[in-house]
Amino acid sequence: MYDNFAYLYDELMNDFDYEQWFEYIKEIFHKYNKNPVDILEMACGTGSLSYYIGKEGYKLTCFDLSEEMLSIAYEKLKRLKNVKILRQDMTRFTINKKFDSVISICDSINYILDREDLLKTFTNVYNHLNDDGIFIFDMNSYYKLKEVIGNNVFVEDRDNIYYTWQNNYDDVKDICEFYLTFFYSEDGENFIRFDEKHLEKAYKNEEIISLLKEAGFPNIEVYDGFSFNSPGKKSERINYVATKI
Ligand SMILES: C[S@@+](CC[C@H](N)C(=O)[O-])C[C@H]1O[C@@H](n2cnc3c(N)ncnc32)[C@H](O)[C@@H]1O
Repeated sequence: MYDNFAYLYDELMNDFDYEQWFEYIKEIFHKYNKNPVDILEMACGTGSLSYYIGKEGYKLTCFDLSEEMLSIAYEKLKRLKNVKILRQDMTRFTINKKFDSVISICDSINYILDREDLLKTFTNVYNHLNDDGIFIFDMNSYYKLKEVIGNNVFVEDRDNIYYTWQNNYDDVKDICEFYLTFFYSEDGENFIRFDEKHLEKAYKNEEIISLLKEAGFPNIEVYDGFSFNSPGKKSERINYVATKI
């Protein structure tokens, strides 16, 4: 789970362009003729996408399970009066209202490790959406978790952070275990070490579609990440769009 990593997350994600990601989401709204007012963002993390959604004036509710991630999000979002932050779990959240859109980005859904919990999540999303609502999320593909990052080691060496990311792919459970070791220094001399273990589940595309259908979504479209093209065998990020009508 996201613990101390939360405090380095934004620095390590600085090559992700969240503004561009928000542009893609707006393109999806446009393509599906949606003009949402109330948006729910699940697993908002440190609030980087939430910031752009909120800045544009949407009424945003966002939540995450990690208190550490939320503490960073709070600092980023506290000036935006149209943004509400909650601590909830995707698999069992309850919010006393319905939304025009539910969004979750950056493979947060892969953190849901079993089928039953994923079905509960999708059903919950369905129940929190207005009738003309739209659900948008992306996932790390089965191919990426198993073939690209599973059983692989990555190292990153920056001035004040050195980290290793060692992965083990469990073929039986289709779960990719990430063992992260960070050495972090504020002054560039004295480094502290901390370790985290994260788990992401690899789901096949057909499984996700069938769970979305089971949750009640009649219309589901699937794209290669950040595009409107169909995913290919080697797509690494897959974007799902599900609507109720
Ligand atoms: C890869 S991060 C993505 C964060 C953020 N969406 C972003 O784009 O930077 C995954 C996030 O999912 C959150 N998460 C994992 N399981 C969760 C759950 N069951 N309910 C809510 N949040 C969860 C983690 O705490 C973390 O913030």
